[in-house]
Amino acid sequence: MTKKIKRIGVMTSGGDAPGMNAAIRAVVRACAYYHIDCVGFMKGFQGMIDGDYVELNARSVRNIINLGGTILKSARSEEFRTKEGREKAAKHLKKAEVDVMILIGGDGTFKGGQIFSAEHNIPIIGVPGTIDNDIFGTHYTIGYDTALNTVIDAVDKIRDTASSHNRLFFVEVMGRDAGFIALNSGIGAGAEEILIPEEDLGLDRLLNSLERSRRSGKTSSIVVVSEGDKIGKNVFELADYVKENLPYYDAKVTVLGHIQRGGSPTCFDRVLASRLCVKAVELALDGQQDIMVGMLNNEVQAIELNKTLQSKPTINKDLLRISDILSV
Ligand code: F6P
Repeated sequence: MTKKIKRIGVMTSGGDAPGMNAAIRAVVRACAYYHIDCVGFMKGFQGMIDGDYVELNARSVRNIINLGGTILKSARSEEFRTKEGREKAAKHLKKAEVDVMILIGGDGTFKGGQIFSAEHNIPIIGVPGTIDNDIFGTHYTIGYDTALNTVIDAVDKIRDTASSHNRLFFVEVMGRDAGFIALNSGIGAGAEEILIPEEDLGLDRLLNSLERSRRSGKTSSIVVVSEGDKIGKNVFELADYVKENLPYYDAKVTVLGHIQRGGSPTCFDRVLASRLCVKAVELALDGQQDIMVGMLNNEVQAIELNKTLQSKPTINKDLLRISDILSV
């Protein structure tokens, strides 16, 4: 017989993402709706190790749906990588009488959670929260849409000055291992070229494309570069390389960095977070564990954590073709 769930724990871990507060709110409110207790652990796994948690009720999460960041704070805990650290966390969870932990984060969070759950028989449910959108088993992660809109907004502004000064801009966006942000913001911002980790198009192609653009009458251009792209040069070296080979280009670099992780979540991210987290609580009550909730074809679905961790989502290569056509 499955154990009756009386108390759910929630935490946010890894890189923060806009919409994490909407997710916390949805977990807490769903718990209140179903008359179960909810506690929030501070600073991800570290809060579990330190027994640092707060009781949360429906009113504790008022006025946070619109806020970026995470009221529970986030961290990457080195101590949780050790057996001793995980033992301390299990001790505190048992003392706090937590029946299920809902982990909001990325694949690093899920990996840690899975090891922990197997060692200590504490059920966990994952909710994908990362701006990178690089989790298998969901078409969207919480924070991705907001980050895309932040990038678009920034690149639109860069375009104004690029066009006034006839300049070429390399704009570096986040995505250490995945090109989703670069690819989609690149198309949305009308970039000339998009460089992503999944596809090394090579330096020659970049030079040819920029040369072709100039000949076709373009006076300014934008290249969106994912921080993890595999072209073999960082974004500053890349700009220098282009200046050396195509001296008529006045090339500049903008690294957008962590502004992509902040800001008020878009409506899309708020709704996504709300839907995923209500389902996470309902599945927990249903006795399910070691799963992640994801959004597939606009339906919330559960997938085994094992499966999400074994694969990576693939980029849609057709988007590169679209970008090529549109940058003619
Ligand atoms: O949240 C994911 C991510 O944004 C990556 O794209 C990036 O490389 C990384 O986080 C940087 O995070 P931090 O500076 O917190 O280590």
